[in-house]
Amino acid sequence: MTITTCVFDAYGTLFDVAAAARIAAAEPGREAFAENWPQIAQDWRLKQLQYTWLRAVADAHTDFWQVTQDGLDYALEAAGMADPELRERLLALYWELSAYPEVPQMLADLKAAGLQTAILSNGSPEMLAGAVDSAGIGAVLDDVLSVQDVGVFKPHRKVYDMVGKRFGCAPEQVLFVSSNGWDAAAAAGYGFYTAWVNRAAEPMDRLPWKPQVVLQDLTGIAKLAKDRA
Ligand code: LAC
Repeated sequence: MTITTCVFDAYGTLFDVAAAARIAAAEPGREAFAENWPQIAQDWRLKQLQYTWLRAVADAHTDFWQVTQDGLDYALEAAGMADPELRERLLALYWELSAYPEVPQMLADLKAAGLQTAILSNGSPEMLAGAVDSAGIGAVLDDVLSVQDVGVFKPHRKVYDMVGKRFGCAPEQVLFVSSNGWDAAAAAGYGFYTAWVNRAAEPMDRLPWKPQVVLQDLTGIAKLAKDRA
């Protein structure tokens, strides 16, 4: 079957999740944070994701903004840096994460080839609107789908079902792209043709499903989609 629709995870895939901590670390007066920021950023992301999975299995859904704050609070306390001003600054920066440099051209190439494009993310509609606006990519996206509409986080199948409902396509007509190994694996298990963007050269997640394609960044996505369109 041919690809008609390209769907992207947001955080870590289109938007650089480490950017908030990296930018804050470069600001004056943050020398202690500058020494610890990579570990804090890693703990923040991991806890944020763990809380989504735990809330999904415990049937205790909340807004992604809540788990983003909860993950940060855990990470700052773990580093002995629970400072309210730093917390507010990091959270503010999360609303304007930069896109990876190859993103605008890749999306423009997909649109020029007549493919449909969308985000499918755990992010709340408000958070995603902020990130899409600050990256200036709204014009090259047909839609931004948030799990908020189904009330459960990835990788619940209800989330992946949103794509077929919105675009009227079969799973195998979808190229799904994620930098999260677990999301790429689950999406492949769902039936999407899936590319894992493994920027950090991480090992493959040991799950029952595997992405069909592994890439280092997003530059090969437009060709991959066009070759199968
Ligand atoms: C998202 C997270 C998983 O955007 O990165 O859904």
